[in-house]
Amino acid sequence: MKSVKRVLIKKVLIASLVVFVGIQFIPVKRNQSDKMLPADITQVYNVPENIQTIFKTSCYNCHSNNTIYPWYNKVQPVAWLLQFHIDEGKSELNFSEFGSYSKRKRKSKLKAMAHQIKDGDMPLFSYTLMHRNARISGNKKALLLNWINQKNTAANSDK
Ligand code: HEC
Repeated sequence: MKSVKRVLIKKVLIASLVVFVGIQFIPVKRNQSDKMLPADITQVYNVPENIQTIFKTSCYNCHSNNTIYPWYNKVQPVAWLLQFHIDEGKSELNFSEFGSYSKRKRKSKLKAMAHQIKDGDMPLFSYTLMHRNARISGNKKALLLNWINQKNTAANSDK
């Protein structure tokens, strides 16, 4: 009985290994584009360098058309998981296409950004575990919220 079980475990392990090796050969889609779109947020808003740096470090990997990948993106199924986050993040908010949003959508996204940053929900906790420099400290938080507020006020008076 025992040995039957052992044989089974061995088979499962071998099968898993085969699958793991096999999936490494499936090509990975990459979220990378060198093109600066006319709808990039920096083309529609004045984004000072320090604010841009924070957005790029803390948000762009999931919310733009250009992801800087970690080395472990070469390993499946990690790459799929990251791609899933990127697709989901981009569908909610894409800094590379912000300018193509309607006025109403821009406003609601600015509001959502402030909300997420204030509550510390973004960047995702799982992300800051691996990317410590993406954390938003009190000082950076104040800078970002201040900038978002300014744009929000402008967007409101703009109607
Ligand atoms: C690791 C990837 C990742 C990073 C980094 C990240 N986000 Fe997100 N973001 C997501 C995902 C996935 C969603 C959609 C699911 C959710 O809301 O949790 C999302 C959703 C959002 C939303 C929409 C929420 C809503 O309710 O409308 C906003 C706004 C947002 N993120 C802003 C930011 C900002 C600002 C940063 C940087 C400070 C950031 N995110 C960093 C992955 C990320």
